[in-house]
Amino acid sequence: MTVKENALNINTLLTGKSPEEVLNWFLKEFEGKTAFSTSLGAEDQVIAQMIAAIDKSANIFTLDTGRLFPETYDLIDLTSKKYDLTIRIMFPDAEETEKMVNSKGINLFYERIENRKLCCHIRKIAPLKRAFTGLDAWICGLRREQSVTRKDLQMVEWDEANGLIKVNPLINWTESQVWEYIKSNHIPYNKLHDQGFPSIGCQPCTRAILPGEDVRAGRWWWENPESRECGLHKK
Ligand code: ADX
Ligand code: SF4
Repeated sequence: MTVKENALNINTLLTGKSPEEVLNWFLKEFEGKTAFSTSLGAEDQVIAQMIAAIDKSANIFTLDTGRLFPETYDLIDLTSKKYDLTIRIMFPDAEETEKMVNSKGINLFYERIENRKLCCHIRKIAPLKRAFTGLDAWICGLRREQSVTRKDLQMVEWDEANGLIKVNPLINWTESQVWEYIKSNHIPYNKLHDQGFPSIGCQPCTRAILPGEDVRAGRWWWENPESRECGLHKK
């Protein structure tokens, strides 16, 4: 059986299981072969606490694009200390980043979508690929409810672009479930969430949203909703 077919079987096997059970299954069955990628977003903080209760030595990484909010850096520090977890920091290639900003400008992403995709590629996708070396599965904090681009996601699916099994333990959770869990478990979260930022990425590409706006409306707000993915989660 191929790993791709296996992803479908695992999805069936784990249907109806809680996020903790799903995480426990992956951390045991794919020991040493699975990693959690965290942006320190609300969903990721829920998953970090669940993972800390299962295995403090789990492989956890974050992509430091060099353009994150100061609040995000503080939360990386706080979370790793509070839960005694190692959050590995992945940086973009220095030479490629210098070449890009020196030829296209430090804020190139606002000018055209190709520039934005190039920046996301160099600062996120390339370091992500490096983080995946030797892995079979990655755990993320995606939820179906988050956007039109995510409504068809499965809890466990085959990630064709990266050649890995992708696990979304909170796939069916609503935003209020996430926040109830955070509050009742005293989980540290990004202070920007209290200032109108439900979804937080890089500082220049994230703004606060207005009441009633879509939760991802503040991400790359100058682009169409259909193109608002950085490429981490493309099919
Ligand atoms: S993004 O593609 O638009 O940036 P989003 O912010 O919704 O994604 O986060 C969805 C999931 O992608 C997170 O739960 C996390 O698993 C992963 N992710 C996003 N940004 C990062 C990052 N900077 N480092 C590591 N993982 C990330
Ligand atoms: Fe660059 Fe913006 Fe993408 Fe961050 S989100 S990598 S700053 S284009």
